[in-house]
Amino acid sequence: MDKKEILQKLGIEEINLGASTGSDWFAAAGGRVMTSYSPIDGEPIAQVNCAGVDDYERVVRTAEEAFAVWRKVPAPKRGEVVRQICLRLREQKEYLGALISLEMGKIYQEGLGEVQEMIDISDLAVGMSRQLYGLTMPSERFEHRIMEQWHPLGPIGIITAYNFPMAVWSWNAMIGAVCGDVMIWKPSSQTVLCAVAVQKLVQQVCREQGVPEGVFNVLIGSGREVGDPIANDNRIKMVSFTGSSEVGRHVGEQVAKRFGRTILELGGNNAVIVTPHADMDMALRSIVFGAVGTTGQRCTSTRRVIVHESVYDKLKDSLAKAYSKLKIGDPFAEGVLVGPMIDAKAADDFAATVEKAVQQGGELICGGHKLDMKGGCYVEPAIVGVYGDMPLVKDENFCPVLFLIPYSGGIEEALAIHNQVPQGLSSAIFSNDFREVETFLSAAGSDCGIANVNLGTSGAEIGSAFGGEKETGGGRESGSDAWKGYMRRQTNGINFSKELPLAQGIEFTF
Ligand code: UN1
Repeated sequence: MDKKEILQKLGIEEINLGASTGSDWFAAAGGRVMTSYSPIDGEPIAQVNCAGVDDYERVVRTAEEAFAVWRKVPAPKRGEVVRQICLRLREQKEYLGALISLEMGKIYQEGLGEVQEMIDISDLAVGMSRQLYGLTMPSERFEHRIMEQWHPLGPIGIITAYNFPMAVWSWNAMIGAVCGDVMIWKPSSQTVLCAVAVQKLVQQVCREQGVPEGVFNVLIGSGREVGDPIANDNRIKMVSFTGSSEVGRHVGEQVAKRFGRTILELGGNNAVIVTPHADMDMALRSIVFGAVGTTGQRCTSTRRVIVHESVYDKLKDSLAKAYSKLKIGDPFAEGVLVGPMIDAKAADDFAATVEKAVQQGGELICGGHKLDMKGGCYVEPAIVGVYGDMPLVKDENFCPVLFLIPYSGGIEEALAIHNQVPQGLSSAIFSNDFREVETFLSAAGSDCGIANVNLGTSGAEIGSAFGGEKETGGGRESGSDAWKGYMRRQTNGINFSKELPLAQGIEFTF
């Protein structure tokens, strides 16, 4: 697809403004200018004039005003707005997917998949807009009723990562919108044009639908310029943050200090357990997609394979063979499965991770080199055999380095290795043995937020709650009842008797 055409179709200018409340775009004159470079060839794509302090204030104030109106719009009517956004996403799927590939570097198929996730979550949110159920409970008192309702929460901050530059916003914003919240989006500095394109699409729908200005907002700037103010701002009732555990800890502390709420989606160190009872061909295919898909830059990417020693060599050989066939290069080119990493620094970090792994006693089985290609962000995904205690295995290495870890005992030993890391996002087992599988899923099994059987660690569907435990942060977004994180719960007691009995049978007469 032609670069000019993608930008033109999505309304990306040469210089874009960094703040929007859904009608106008604005940014302080003379403010910092950010250039977005494509990891495909290192060439600049377009620029953004970052939001300044005044722009921040204008956005938050407008968001607060919009909330006063939006919270009173019936939820199914809010769902109708999301439905219209969804229709527009369907129309623009190819261009949006292409912009993701252009700015972030994931292969076009995965770019399209990301937009599909946005469409899916929007569809889910539309249905959900009629299902924001509260419970009723039997009261212990005569002619009394107790129940709970879910009310909109307020302005929410959505701080997203570069690896899913559009979809992470949608998992939060589409659910937040039907819940009656107003959204303030701070996209990753590495993928600002994706945010401009999505905001322009949403803005057009909002205009057509008569949605008040300030329901969908964007602020583009660095963590210091925009992220910290959001985290410290009492007016922003919840902050959904996707990114590293290190930055997530900082954000979490800031928001907790003011008793704000967070949904934290932080690092993963996801493993696949391959037992002697695995379908080896299925395990192989899932591991390759999980480890090299999105060039190892998903939070759900497969980083560790814990494989029984009786099938270790077989898996190692077939993985090395599969890796040797991977076509690396331009994410738009036919047959390419591994695009560039996000930038040259990420490629350097990849090389440093491989070097460190070897220093710590790892066996480099294949790959591990940076490739001398245009843009400087291309790497050859690596597999490293791990014997004994290797500290590096405990870190989230956000690149296509896969650790192969042998185990010799039963499923309990594999699980002990599995649960040894500080992160707890996604996990999988390949086994056709009932006992192994059920143990993996049991209370004493995987300690992750996601535990899959005979399918890989990445590619979660939006219908389920997404998130993880431990240093992954504990947040949940997307489907199931994750919407509750975007609303405030209110318990109501209603007395329709003519008496005033106290709960717990307390007598208090005067
Ligand atoms: C992420 O990498 O931040 O499960 C999210 C998956 C995708 C989401 C990844 N649905 O791989």
